[in-house]
Amino acid sequence: MRVLSGIQPTGRFHWGNYLGAIRQYIDLQHGNEAYYFIADLHALTTVREPARLRQNTLDAALDLLALGLDPEKANLFRQSDVPEISELYWLLTTVAPMGLLERCVAYKDKKEKGLPADAGLFTYPVLMSADILAYDSEVVPVGADQVQHIEVCRDLAGSFNALFGPTFVLPKAKTLEASAKVPGLDGEKMSKSYDNTIEVFEDLKSARKKIMRITTDARPMEEPKEPEGDHLFQLYSLFAGPADREAMAAKYRQGGFGYGEVKKALADAAEAYFAEARARRAELAARPDRVNEILADGASRARLKASEVLKRAQHNCGLK
Ligand code: TRP
Repeated sequence: MRVLSGIQPTGRFHWGNYLGAIRQYIDLQHGNEAYYFIADLHALTTVREPARLRQNTLDAALDLLALGLDPEKANLFRQSDVPEISELYWLLTTVAPMGLLERCVAYKDKKEKGLPADAGLFTYPVLMSADILAYDSEVVPVGADQVQHIEVCRDLAGSFNALFGPTFVLPKAKTLEASAKVPGLDGEKMSKSYDNTIEVFEDLKSARKKIMRITTDARPMEEPKEPEGDHLFQLYSLFAGPADREAMAAKYRQGGFGYGEVKKALADAAEAYFAEARARRAELAARPDRVNEILADGASRARLKASEVLKRAQHNCGLK
């Protein structure tokens, strides 16, 4: 299958990004033709500091490679290195109904809050459709918040095909199960907008400090507790092996331990879980030329496919 997904370089990835999404993208590189890109054009709608956008983009590439994205298996590239996307974006804009885009949440939310929105935010789903359609993508692994955009993409592809004959492959969204929800420091969903995140490659000391701040209830140490539904236990479970997880669950049920002990175990487990990736990241960060080479290779392979699709679309609508 042809698999595609994009990640915005809006900041460093946190545990929720990795466990909820990135991990699955990396799994899907096996046995599929995979296209993964850093959506720097989309990020322009929110990141307006050039140096930060550049740094974020490089960091995103380093993080993904360190976490196991294998450039021999998947095509990793920068969205803006594939100019065909911007051309396809215009073709799709000409068949995008205003009403459809007006219903898209990112724009709608801003509008309802009375905030000024620019056209980039409004047509954001059209650019995303171009990303997807440019590679004849069949499967698009995304978080639940992106499903609406895949529906828009299917709509636009369908309209274009109806007007100009078979041109685009209609993709399917692949959402990750609810179990992939990762709680943050306060027990709510981990998200940058809640300011409750721990970054995957956060400085170890700072990560430990944050873990010690995870909210817990005030029940006395002696009291036996139910582990299921406890967000600290949930976090521990994400990083610990099955045997350690069971042992910790037994401790909860028995009582007579402190949450500080669980936090320390969580910090150790998370540190061990990412240790290899952390070492790989340090190695790669010392070789930015290698990273740029990987991105350039990925882009040239991506362009090969995207230019074939763009030509098809241009021909069908009468441009060529
Ligand atoms: N909008 C996506 C997000 O914020 C990123 C993205 C851009 C994307 N283009 C895409 C995801 C194409 C999947 C397919 O998460």
